[in-house]
Amino acid sequence: MSGDTIKTKYRHIKAGFEFKKTPLFRWISAREPVSVANTLPITWSRARDSSVWDDRGNRWIDMTSGIFVANAGHANPKIKRAIKKQLDNDLVFAYNYPTEIKKGFIKKLLALSPKYFDAVALLNSGSEAMDSVYKLIKLYGRKTGKKYIVSFTGNYHGRGLSNDLISGSKTKASWSGVHDDAVLFLDFPYDPETPFNPKLLPPGETIAGFIIETFQGWGAWFYPKKFITDLATFARKNGALMCFDEMQSGFYRLGPLYGYMTYGNIAPDILALGKGISSSLPLSAVLSRKELFDIDTNADLHGTHSGNTIAMAAGLANLELLSSEKEARRRRKTSTVFEQELKKLERSPLIERVNVRGLIAGIIFKSRVDSEAVVFECVKRGVLLMLIPRNSIKLAPPLSISEGALREALAVIQEVINERGGS
Ligand SMILES: Cc1ncc(COP(=O)(O)O)c(C=O)c1O
Repeated sequence: MSGDTIKTKYRHIKAGFEFKKTPLFRWISAREPVSVANTLPITWSRARDSSVWDDRGNRWIDMTSGIFVANAGHANPKIKRAIKKQLDNDLVFAYNYPTEIKKGFIKKLLALSPKYFDAVALLNSGSEAMDSVYKLIKLYGRKTGKKYIVSFTGNYHGRGLSNDLISGSKTKASWSGVHDDAVLFLDFPYDPETPFNPKLLPPGETIAGFIIETFQGWGAWFYPKKFITDLATFARKNGALMCFDEMQSGFYRLGPLYGYMTYGNIAPDILALGKGISSSLPLSAVLSRKELFDIDTNADLHGTHSGNTIAMAAGLANLELLSSEKEARRRRKTSTVFEQELKKLERSPLIERVNVRGLIAGIIFKSRVDSEAVVFECVKRGVLLMLIPRNSIKLAPPLSISEGALREALAVIQEVINERGGS
């Protein structure tokens, strides 16, 4: 099967396709840090909607949205038009001067978000946004005499030093020799019955903030709902800030605009946003209240390219598109198909469980050998998945994917798992 040509409406894998490091792959990887190289040696030459093509004309259904970025689909025509229009306005960079396009983007983001969010810091990457979250909580703590930041084991918040201090575990930043004794980690509550237990924490009034990745990345693991609502009550009562890292979960990935909204009626103080915020160009943001941002007027929550005009144009078009009723209808339909089809996999002897919400899913395998083998085989059959160093496969198709492409990709995944698992 894998040597044959596959040609359908959505996939095209030519005869002889193999995972081979092409001259282009080797040229670039010789000139970049080893840690940068993608483990799947596929050259991207074109990406549109839910399709990715390589330089030999092979075409995949992208079940990763790149890396949770292309919520509106790759190279969305409306976003492209907005970028072109901004280019034609001869304003491709404006440092942090006021621009109409920045106003347009901020206005739209605030209009879509809960009303108490009344200010935004614009940045370029998720790591920068989370660095600003760390800083804001520290500044708030300094002002209010609160010391601790509480994070969760296994969560991921980016690649800078401050990100490492709040990611994974106490040892994540050990490469640096820097240690922040104010950062505490609670175990991630994988068991849905896990209660939020304040006894594991220092006195409530000493906690400056909680940092929560809306779901744990590697397996799309969600917190138990009650755990989060109890945490929110505790944080509110003690004046601790509640911050969600919405990098992957934001912009309708889980259904509502922000993923935290799937936990019930809670009102976080800070949201870190990125990836699907533009579905394309580098753009991130921290959303909060003006009063909190201005707790220290020297906080410097910006950079050279913050609010870049082209990124603003892309972001604005993206928000307009994703927030439309037409797209909401489409998502309601595709997320039902997604959940129904993926839940069937729980019958496979290879699978431990399937976590799914909206258009994100984590298929948790019993063994990493199987999850990796399934990724490679699906890619050989024209379904692009991500290889991660865990016993899981994470699925996050563009929110714009057609029902036909989605069903076809899910059928391939089911077929590969069934062939391997003999169910
Ligand atoms: C939850 C989360 N936070 C932060 C980041 C860092 O974002 P960036 O890679 O844009 O710096 C990521 C990136 O994958 C992420 O998934």
